[in-house]
Amino acid sequence: MNLMLFGAPGAGKGTQAKFLIEKYGIPQISTGDILREAVKNETEMGKEAKKYMDEGKLVPDSIIIGIIKDRLKEADCKEGFILDGFPRTIPQAEALDELLQELNISLDKVISLNVPDEDIIERITGRRVSKVTGKIYHIKFNPPVDEKEEDLYQRADDTEETVKKRLDAYHTQTAPLFDFYKNKGILVEVDGTKSVDEVTKDIINILN
Ligand code: AP5
Repeated sequence: MNLMLFGAPGAGKGTQAKFLIEKYGIPQISTGDILREAVKNETEMGKEAKKYMDEGKLVPDSIIIGIIKDRLKEADCKEGFILDGFPRTIPQAEALDELLQELNISLDKVISLNVPDEDIIERITGRRVSKVTGKIYHIKFNPPVDEKEEDLYQRADDTEETVKKRLDAYHTQTAPLFDFYKNKGILVEVDGTKSVDEVTKDIINILN
């Protein structure tokens, strides 16, 4: 099964991807996670990407498309994958189409997690990630049982100021992809404002 999770920053893509990995045994491909790893390791690509990420801007298409070309060819993607945070622009979506054609596969579903902007800032500024398991929590909506054990941290770009810029980038550059995939007949909308568990159930119902 080849899936894409689509939605604004903080819509719950990463949270839902973690459940889908377990349920379907296919990998999550998060361009955000790949970029953060490159930033942490101070690679040339990471240093370049950091300038954009800190500003809440999208990283240039050329960098992102290169990452995805390499990643989708890896062996663990043979049975399927979950794209999370990619594509984010029309040129990225067109490059993905070409790549999928080359690999002789197609996208089965694009799940659009619909969450209004007014919910996004609270979600993102309250997000914490476990250094131990990589799990995504929220201080109010989804707190961990044992905060100390999870060794939580806050992402560098999860400030109110940066979130506003990320939302701007989403509306101008990424939102047009909604129609791009709707026109292909593979986009399904999910109400992302429901609880984490309810959203998971809705997605699984769609996929079944
Ligand atoms: P990326 O890491 O992709 O960030 P994003 O799209 O901004 O998405 P987030 O990870 O912020 O949100 P999410 O939808 O995964 O939400 P989550 O599940 O964590 O990208 C970061 C940066 O990298 C970009 O700004 C850009 O610079 C660059 N980049 C990455 N990909 C790129 C690309 N393709 N092209 C160009 N640049 C790229 O949930 C958020 C919070 O809400 C959590 O605290 C969670 O617990 C909580 N929550 C989740 N679901 C619910 C629910 N149902 N109810 C209540 N709370 C919930």
